[in-house]
Amino acid sequence: MEFLRSSPALLLACLFLVFLSVSSLGINYGQIADNIPSPENVVPLVKSIGASRIKLYDADPKVLKAFAKTGVEFIVSLGNEYLAKMKDPSNAQSWVKKNVQVYLPATKITCIAVGNEVLTLNDTTLTDNLLPAMQSVHTALVNLKLDKQVTVTTAHSLAILQTSYPPSAGAFRKDLVDCVTQIVDFHCKTASPFLINAYPYFAYKGNPKQVSLDFVLFQPNSGIVDPESNLHYDNMLFAQIDAVHSALASVGYKNVCVQISETGWPSKGDADEAGATPENARKYNCNLMKLIGQKKGTPMRPNSDLNIFVFALFNENQKPGPGSERNYGLFKPDGSQAYPLGVPAVTLSSNSSSSSGSGSGTDATPSASLPPASSSSGYLAITSDSGRSLSRCKSLLLSTLWLLFHCYSIIFNVERMETSATL
Ligand SMILES: *[C@@H]1O[C@H](CO)[C@@H](O)[C@H](O)[C@H]1NC(C)=O
Ligand SMILES: *[C@@H]1O[C@H](CO)[C@@H](O)[C@H](O)[C@H]1NC(C)=O
Repeated sequence: MEFLRSSPALLLACLFLVFLSVSSLGINYGQIADNIPSPENVVPLVKSIGASRIKLYDADPKVLKAFAKTGVEFIVSLGNEYLAKMKDPSNAQSWVKKNVQVYLPATKITCIAVGNEVLTLNDTTLTDNLLPAMQSVHTALVNLKLDKQVTVTTAHSLAILQTSYPPSAGAFRKDLVDCVTQIVDFHCKTASPFLINAYPYFAYKGNPKQVSLDFVLFQPNSGIVDPESNLHYDNMLFAQIDAVHSALASVGYKNVCVQISETGWPSKGDADEAGATPENARKYNCNLMKLIGQKKGTPMRPNSDLNIFVFALFNENQKPGPGSERNYGLFKPDGSQAYPLGVPAVTLSSNSSSSSGSGSGTDATPSASLPPASSSSGYLAITSDSGRSLSRCKSLLLSTLWLLFHCYSIIFNVERMETSATL
């Protein structure tokens, strides 16, 4: 009887499992723009795509405050211009106090990215400052007793690899091996993830005649077989991720947690930027989000979750570089979807700093703070994934009840035996 009375607790445990198995989509929130919505208005947009993690390129107080108590996890960043300063532990400590500690625990900051793509800038001063800066920031976290909840890392460009194909041949640039090895050693000692920015789009843009568009866009295709490992790859991103796994293994690290801190596809670009169209961007990002929802790993790491941050939330009109750089957003500055994302649109309140104020117009779903009940285009797997989780939960509940029934009958029988023994 005791067992049966505790079943509400079991139900709770089951619900908790459902919660755990909901996909964990990350999104980069870049703000090099003068027309994007205020952070308060960004909260419903982030929820509408089911993202539970955000990566910032700074530690913007307005954003960190707006997302307090939303449960969304944050990677905050220290730009490359801070590395020299952060080498000094006292500077690192005051930065952590001011930019991380004050927001905890209301805003769930879980990681600090120190520097972005530093090693591939070929700037020896920056490179030399990178690890010492990471170490100072980590020491600050230890001193403030935050190191168990906040990790320290840095994001690399995939160009730290000399060889990325086939995936089993993945290897770091020779001149970077020592430096990368020391950084990976730091990750192992502090249990922090290795971050890589990976863009199949660059491979396609560089070689549109040779690279199969279906292979880079996660569309059905025959794929490739790695001749060394015999593993089959049907998309380039997984091949790139496994090339990183191989490179790490080749310097002696087989169990590092690799996360994709950036990947995405532009919906627009210059005339010479092949493949930058809304349709390709839609296929890349929607297929990717579907894969993330399925909780599948790569061929080399089939059981590890894909820890992926899509780039990016908004088109950023003030980014320098080729046209594509300003068009990676899932959303336009007015909050409307840059192309159909397979989830209900969110109409922003007119308080958005975007003055055009036209809103997304067609779909007037007031707020999509919950995953959609159904999505006609079906590209986002949030619904089907939670559906799957629910049925998983149901079967778990059934087997738990079955177990309870048996425990109960065993106890009942024991009691009966005891009763008959005393008689
Ligand atoms: C950095 O150096 C590598 C190898 O020496 C070279 O391939 C790459 O183009 C350089 N990158 C930049 C941004 O100069
Ligand atoms: C919009 O702005 C007005 C005045 O600036 C403010 O009173 C109101 O609360 C804001 N509404 C929202 C939803 O932020």
